[in-house]
Amino acid sequence: MTLSGVRIDSQLRKTPMNDADILITAPLPPFLYEPLRKDYRCHDYAEAPDKPALLRDVSARIRGLVQGGGTVTPTSLLDALPGLEIISVFGVGYDGVPTDYCRTRGIKVTNTPDVLTDDVADVAVGLILMTGRGFVRANRFVHAGEWLRRGPELTMKLGGRSVGILGLGRIGKAIAERVQAMRMRVSYSGRKPQDVPYHYVPDAESLAREVDFLVVACPGGPATRHLVDEGVLNALGAKGTLINIARGSIVDEAALVRALANKTIKAAGLDVFENEPNIPPELLAMDNVVLLPHVGSATRETRQAMGDLCKANLDQWFDRRSVLTLIPELASTA
Ligand code: 8YV
Repeated sequence: MTLSGVRIDSQLRKTPMNDADILITAPLPPFLYEPLRKDYRCHDYAEAPDKPALLRDVSARIRGLVQGGGTVTPTSLLDALPGLEIISVFGVGYDGVPTDYCRTRGIKVTNTPDVLTDDVADVAVGLILMTGRGFVRANRFVHAGEWLRRGPELTMKLGGRSVGILGLGRIGKAIAERVQAMRMRVSYSGRKPQDVPYHYVPDAESLAREVDFLVVACPGGPATRHLVDEGVLNALGAKGTLINIARGSIVDEAALVRALANKTIKAAGLDVFENEPNIPPELLAMDNVVLLPHVGSATRETRQAMGDLCKANLDQWFDRRSVLTLIPELASTA
């Protein structure tokens, strides 16, 4: 089996069950949880009514942990798992994993890159279309019977407009390819310039100043917390729209609410939020904001591929002491 270039060996899993206890710290879909239960002794920490009691019973035996992309794993939990060998994240983002701590303890951390890139990039393009061309308002207009009374509003031509991508990783590049096909102009910012045909801008504020759409596509975590702050939103200005498909933590949400309310920026298209699934009521009430419930990777095909890869990382580790997609921060420990 191949997952976007990652080969999953079907000869793995010769034993009926690995001799490993796994702690599950996030609600998982059945197409991942059932195969995990078949091959491992799974302990459901996410749903446990008495978490301390569960830990008292099983913590000494836990060798693997499965969590979601948005799950925060405190070091206090890891301290309670002395035999933990691997954290397999069901998601590309691992901002909830204390990676420095894992390096110190030699705990492997894996995620599910590549398999979700297309879907997440599609959502970014969808949000550009929905905000820029006003498709959500147009849809409401038709449903409300308004078209019988008057014509629709005119919106903004997207071809020729500029898109600034904050974080040109795999997903950022997939967004760039898509918007280029729509004849939009692409620039980006990130840690360093890359060998790509797009204009590099060294920091978020300068990028925001020169674009119509600022698309947040960088990893979350402490290094990028509130990278999009009041200064960046001021620079984006009244012509500008903020799109976020990455992590809510990257945008200072209170500053965003103020910028939208004061018309400092034009609009926002958001798939992720600081405190999901809670969204500030001000955003819910705004007409120039398109809100999605974190659906970047939420297709059946992609979630299945993410689940397969999440489990394959555990299988490979317990069968062969290697993993398929080690996170870059731990590459030196491979
Ligand atoms: C998922 C995500 O919603 O991959 C990520 O980092 O945020 C999303 O694709 C999440 O990981 C599911 O647990």
